Amino acid sequence: MELNRRTVIAGAAAAGIAATALGSGTAEAASGGRKPVRESFGKLADGTKIYRWSLENGGTRLKVLNWGGVVQTLELPDRRGHYANVVNGFDNIDDYVAKSPYFGALIGRYGNRIGKGQFTLDGKTYQLSVNDGVNSLHGGSQGFDKHVWDVEPFVKGSDVGLVLHYTSIDGEMGYPGTLKAKVTYTLTRRGEWIIDYHATTDKATVVNLTSHVYWNLAGEGSGTVEDHELTIAAGRYTPTDSGLIPTGELATVRGTPFDFRETKTIGRDIRAGHAQQVQAKGFDHNWVLDKGITAKPEHIATLRDPRSGRTLKIATDQPGLQFYSGNFLDGTLTGTGGRTYRQGDALCLETQHFPDSPNHANFPSTVLRPGQVYRTRTVHSFGA
Ligand code: GLA
Repeated sequence: MELNRRTVIAGAAAAGIAATALGSGTAEAASGGRKPVRESFGKLADGTKIYRWSLENGGTRLKVLNWGGVVQTLELPDRRGHYANVVNGFDNIDDYVAKSPYFGALIGRYGNRIGKGQFTLDGKTYQLSVNDGVNSLHGGSQGFDKHVWDVEPFVKGSDVGLVLHYTSIDGEMGYPGTLKAKVTYTLTRRGEWIIDYHATTDKATVVNLTSHVYWNLAGEGSGTVEDHELTIAAGRYTPTDSGLIPTGELATVRGTPFDFRETKTIGRDIRAGHAQQVQAKGFDHNWVLDKGITAKPEHIATLRDPRSGRTLKIATDQPGLQFYSGNFLDGTLTGTGGRTYRQGDALCLETQHFPDSPNHANFPSTVLRPGQVYRTRTVHSFGA
């Protein structure tokens, strides 16, 4: 399939055929190097205009909102070349504002949880916005997912993409320092989706940016992901308390449902009754990646839907991966395709530093100081 896709794309480019002229709904609609296009996606209550950008390259199609940097749709061909949108989302801005459980969004200033929303840095204790019981989740009540980002499209060689900017002022959600965040979404000619995160601060602070895409490689709204096969290159994970805050232990996955070192379906052990699973209503944990922090992204996880053949491979330089099995989807949200999302109808694989790192000296540090640059990369590669 990989080869076919590339041949078709190269052929179309050589013949100068506009991608849209080729049968849409098949892999032949792949383009290369065209500038992203912008269209209206409604307005916020205060009149702020929301836009949706469409990008396509190497057989992958992406639609991105300036609201939260949300990946609204991501379309991929299956092994027969038929496209499906493989991420959860909404078809209107109001639902994103009112009730999104972070569908497709950029997460900041701190992805995942900080216990009691508190941490001490350089002798000073900071109180963050608390929005998940007594804890702070995904940056607080108005995290980076709930802001309008500045978006600039680009074409660079055979890559196309968007550069997204958001500046979080000193004290926002309780975090110290003005943080200038820049996130670049790139689609390569091989159809990879790369996320580059970049941030600087003017006071010491903590940062942990991630992307909260909900995957269902069979197509969003098509049912459970329990038959998806998953592999995670991690021999340990961080067990949590009942509020999903890590206890600090790096526990072995050996002999537990958390062992995804050999490929297995998500459903196989999801009802095994391990105390950590019962507490989280499934999988909602941080895996400690064997490779640790690396200079360059390394492959750490593979997700595959056996029915469509669609495959997602994730590479990152980050030390952790939060695998969340869509436990809180409860049939109350209706997605882009008009179908409701029930528990386990999608899953998240969030590359990140460990949850609650500012309160655990044994976890890799998430402190960013003036003069330092926060820079990390995650690569999503697709196949069928
Ligand atoms: C995360 C958390 C989950 C849940 C979802 C959003 O990934 O780990 O516990 O809060 O976000 O519903």
